[in-house]
Amino acid sequence: MNSIFKPNVPSKMKLILVAGARPNFMKIAPLIRAIQVHNEQTGGAQKMGHILVHTGQHYDIQMSDIFFAELGIPAPDINLEVGSGSHAEQTARVMMAFEPVCIREKPDWVVVVGDVNSTMACTLVASKLGVKVAHVEAGLRSFDRTMPEEINRIVTDSLAELLLTPSADADENLKREGIPASKIRLVGNIMIDTLVANLNQARRSCLADTLDIKPKTFVYVTLHRPSNVDDVKSLILIMSQLESLAHRIPVVFPVHPRTRNMMKLAGLSIQNGANLKLLDPIGYHDSLSLTEKAKFVLTDSGGLQEESTYLGTPCLTLRPNTERPVTVIVGTNKLTRPDSLADDIEEVMQNRRAPGRIPPYWDGHTAERIVKILRQLTADS
Ligand code: UD1
Repeated sequence: MNSIFKPNVPSKMKLILVAGARPNFMKIAPLIRAIQVHNEQTGGAQKMGHILVHTGQHYDIQMSDIFFAELGIPAPDINLEVGSGSHAEQTARVMMAFEPVCIREKPDWVVVVGDVNSTMACTLVASKLGVKVAHVEAGLRSFDRTMPEEINRIVTDSLAELLLTPSADADENLKREGIPASKIRLVGNIMIDTLVANLNQARRSCLADTLDIKPKTFVYVTLHRPSNVDDVKSLILIMSQLESLAHRIPVVFPVHPRTRNMMKLAGLSIQNGANLKLLDPIGYHDSLSLTEKAKFVLTDSGGLQEESTYLGTPCLTLRPNTERPVTVIVGTNKLTRPDSLADDIEEVMQNRRAPGRIPPYWDGHTAERIVKILRQLTADS
């Protein structure tokens, strides 16, 4: 089968961009846009050829298609359609499906983002084929190897040729692991590029009106980490705390499919009442709008820790650690546990939390910096 890079000839540089799961889409969108802008401004061999591979790790409309539509991401050139499975099954399926694509397309770089199974699987494939990998959002560490994402981060970063980091702590983590400084570039937080580009549209979201909730009088909750939701005891405890919280303030909780499945398995029949609003997963604009309008966010998501910091909304992260410490040190984030949640909620409800600041390099220009670096490195090689 012929390469599908043809539309981009005579470009000198060929990139495969990989996205697989919901949080990847917000990270790949600004990169595609920055490449398009670069290509509009330059001609001939200066152009960057790129194809988008969707691994199909996430596949529901609400987990995938809606993000392509809202963020203006072009349809993937290739969808590997790997679907769900155990970690080994999913990783292996991505690897088996991605290898022939890499062999056929012969890219100069495979660009992976974030820390999901697809990120690690495509990195392994490309590295073994001698194709250089650029990792966007490199260097984040929770130092908790019970998190599948931590394993994905360590493997990806140890193999990648170019480590594009969001914050200075990430650079330090990588150097401590023996990665040469020449491979590390502090480019900033690419999620914030997407936030900045979409904030006006997010502000037009009607979701709060539809739910009949007013700004700063509700809590926005998202929970999907296996450590919180795969353990029945922990899930029951968390859900009972959300029910109590909903007696004081409306709680809006779009439920991730993993969490919904676990609720069913645990036999939890939560009353979806006036104050506890359990929704299907929501799109990017609605989520950003709720993050900005909420009194506080209660989450175990990585992206929401960052988005709430940028928007100045207090965030309680229901995890013992975070790979994004800058959101705690500089931003509005605080780690919490099921047994300290009630006290931490009280603190936010009484406005006793100090305001945060926006961390350095969270300025909406990360993708442009990445494009520049990729161009320089390819010109030098
Ligand atoms: C994955 C990522 C996690 C990320 C999260 C965001 C890994 C190891 N985990 O976790 O880092 O924070 O995505 O959502 O890569 N399902 C559906 N529809 C879908 C996708 C999944 O119903 O479109 C259900 C399936 O039952 C599946 C379960 O959700 O088994 C979990 O999906 P999976 O991709 O394995 O992990 P996430 O929990 O989504």
